[in-house]
Amino acid sequence: MQISASFLSINDNIKENVNLLTSCDIDYLHLDIMDGEFVNNKTWEISEIKELINYSRPLDVHLMVNDVYKYIDEYKDLNPTYITFHYEINLDILDIIQYIKKFNIKVGLSIKPSTKVEEITPYLNYLDLVLVMSVEPGLGGQQFIKESVNKIKKLKELKGNYLISVDGGINIDTVNLVKDADIIVVGSYITNGNYNQQIKNMKEKIYG
Ligand code: DX5
Ligand code: ZN
Repeated sequence: MQISASFLSINDNIKENVNLLTSCDIDYLHLDIMDGEFVNNKTWEISEIKELINYSRPLDVHLMVNDVYKYIDEYKDLNPTYITFHYEINLDILDIIQYIKKFNIKVGLSIKPSTKVEEITPYLNYLDLVLVMSVEPGLGGQQFIKESVNKIKKLKELKGNYLISVDGGINIDTVNLVKDADIIVVGSYITNGNYNQQIKNMKEKIYG
């Protein structure tokens, strides 16, 4: 199980703290990009992100945006490992998948808590990652939504070639519920404490 650390909940000395976070034992840096339309919140512009990150960790870009093509065009230049977009935008999902793949970037499709796994089965064969939202997208520090557990199980049973990632409310109590996930996205559990210690606690919980 890999850890993709989100810095959405870091509010002060962001550059310094993102550097600290990427110096810790994490597998990906998770970028939560919000446009203020698909979700109410708006996060960083690409220019701010380019200032913030130091490329010392692979990037896991989570686009919570409507105009996906605009953001793919911006973020492809960071050479991220994953670009994930949301199923709930009403655009041609397969076209977007192909568009991201054109840049040799792995494609993730994210589903909100209210979206069923059955709704994305037509796309599973084309995906490298499925991002199961275990909170309503738009904010860090929310409570884990237990129904997400069944979605992860279903995706596991379908045995596709995609990795399963789960995002939102993951801490040392909820991580046990998502053992079938390949990647956990963790924000406030890490960034609200001593980063190294929190990551160590999480790994001890995962690996025993
Ligand atoms: C929410 C974001 C999540 C969030 C996770 O819209 O997609 O990545 O930052 O943060 P925590 O772990 O605090 O729920
Ligand atoms: Zn996210």
